[in-house]
Amino acid sequence: MASLRAVNLQAEAVVVPAGEAAKTLAQAGELYDRLLGARLDRGSVVVALGGGVVTDLAGFVAATYMRGIAWIAVSTTLLGQVDASVGGKTGVDHPRCKNLIGAFHQPAAVLADVSTLATLPEEEFRTGLAEVVKHAVIRDADLFSLLEAQVDRLLARDPQVLEDVVARNVEIKADIVMADPQESGLRRILNYGHTVGHALESVAMASAGKLGGQAVTHGRAVALGMMAEAHIALKRGLMHRGPLERQKHLLKRFGLPVSLDAAVDLDQCLAIMQHDKKAVAGRLRFVLPEGIGAVRDLDDVTADEVCRAIRSLTA
Ligand SMILES: NC(=O)c1ccc[n+]([C@@H]2O[C@H](COP(=O)([O-])OP(=O)(O)OC[C@H]3O[C@@H](n4cnc5c(N)ncnc54)[C@H](O)[C@@H]3O)[C@@H](O)[C@H]2O)c1
Ligand SMILES: [Zn+2]
Repeated sequence: MASLRAVNLQAEAVVVPAGEAAKTLAQAGELYDRLLGARLDRGSVVVALGGGVVTDLAGFVAATYMRGIAWIAVSTTLLGQVDASVGGKTGVDHPRCKNLIGAFHQPAAVLADVSTLATLPEEEFRTGLAEVVKHAVIRDADLFSLLEAQVDRLLARDPQVLEDVVARNVEIKADIVMADPQESGLRRILNYGHTVGHALESVAMASAGKLGGQAVTHGRAVALGMMAEAHIALKRGLMHRGPLERQKHLLKRFGLPVSLDAAVDLDQCLAIMQHDKKAVAGRLRFVLPEGIGAVRDLDDVTADEVCRAIRSLTA
């Protein structure tokens, strides 16, 4: 607020409650009231200051208020900086479906100040690291090696390493999104780890966020999802054991889970994946790694392969 005032920009702050529960049409409705109350017009700008929830919500309000006004994402979580603030997907949740209501609306600018990450709770920081590992596996072997070399400094949130890692991740995501802004092809590779991951997350959600005794956050589910999906690639001969072990070791060092201590309901997982619209004639669509730094988008994965992969998590 002070820096906006310092350059003679009039600004008004609107605060929303923390957490996913704020990503609703009702909350967006309240924000429209506030924007109108503050007399924002088509020349005004929304500045979204916060994590992915705030940038998704504020970006969506900016996309729809007066048919779209400009917005700037100022991301304060690791997941927000490396993922949610880049790519122009904005939106809110429907009571029955996450991110159902939304719009593609690119921010005019994205600001990521890694010093904000100093106060981020450990679990939230880990969630961001899962997406960082994902970006490295799908696209950038050098980033993967850098992560392996800098685990300790990263976990200590050394600003220099963080700046380097965040910048490389933004480049990777921006590069993919620019090649495929509306998700008709290449952008799908960002789903690595997320097909099984979302299923595990949904199953956990139905039992107080836990699988067995383990808490399953988004980042934890994605880590498990990447292990299961790498297992499918291993069994198909797409990926060797070596890179799979490197992925496993790095996730572990980041404090992310690579196995489950209790079996999950496979039928329930499969039903969720098939419902995710990725199934064509009983075969599922998956982004599978061919090693570290490259993936392939396949649409012929069988339910049997998926079950074996999920079972491998408890082996
Ligand atoms: N638009 C996209 O492309 C995209 C991509 C990935 C995820 N998302 C969305 O992002 C959301 C998740 O974002 P998230 O992981 O940033 O969660 P979040 O926005 O809920 O933030 C996590 C928690 O950290 C707090 N927080 C934020 N910054 C902080 C800081 N600097 N210090 C201390 N606490 C801080 C928040 O108040 C919140 O309690 C989901 O709704 C997801 O759907 C969107
Ligand atoms: Zn994710």
